Amino acid sequence: MPIPLRLGVNIDHVATIRNARGGDHPDPVRAAEIVAACGGDGITAHLREDRRHIRDSDLARIQAATGLPLNLEMAATEEMLAIALAHRPHAACIVPERREERTTEGGLDAAGQHNRLYPIVQRLTDAGIRVSLFIAPEEAQVEAALRLKAPVIELHTGEYAHAAGEAQLRELARLSAMAELAAREGIEPHAGHGLTYDNVMPVAAIPQVAELNIGHYLIGEAVFTGLESAVRRMRELMDAARA
Ligand code: PXP
Repeated sequence: MPIPLRLGVNIDHVATIRNARGGDHPDPVRAAEIVAACGGDGITAHLREDRRHIRDSDLARIQAATGLPLNLEMAATEEMLAIALAHRPHAACIVPERREERTTEGGLDAAGQHNRLYPIVQRLTDAGIRVSLFIAPEEAQVEAALRLKAPVIELHTGEYAHAAGEAQLRELARLSAMAELAAREGIEPHAGHGLTYDNVMPVAAIPQVAELNIGHYLIGEAVFTGLESAVRRMRELMDAARA
């Protein structure tokens, strides 16, 4: 019997659309409520240093809106650490924001930054926040996560998502091997980035993976699947005004 596979929905790009006009619509909190109502298992949001997605004031509102666990994606900085400690999300996923913090695949360079990451992982853990490290599917990175005592890793599926054919199968094999290694070492593997209807199933089939975090594609699809009813509603209101 495989372990259950949770779906964490990243609502950042609802905020991206909101921020394009600088106002309050569309509100990522409303997206979180819909995710909760339709069986999503968690909300993921990235408070970026440049605040291009959610804003500081969104965090408490998202936490208050649903009973779902919040997975806060954050850079390993003192500013973000203070925010995480103040808000105490269920989980904090440490992600790279600057080029020098990344591996070649775009994950966090946990192996190269042990000394910088260790106290941050410790302080989050001491506060009861479940720490996850967003890493490339490389043995050196999984081993670094183990040395950092992170209970969770999120395997970066970007290379897999962008590859095709044989190359994609090779990437899938790496994801699968690193999920197996992590689970064997007692680390819970998650996965995410660039997942779509077309490429999600092979990753979802990796038996050790406990959670997928998916954002951009879902929000993009929601534009199309929701546009019809939004246009119909606007038409109704216009027609009612002239009736
Ligand atoms: N997981 C992490 C750690 C992320 O930073 C992101 C956003 O890049 C995602 C998952 C979701 O990726 P996407 O928006 O491509 O689905």
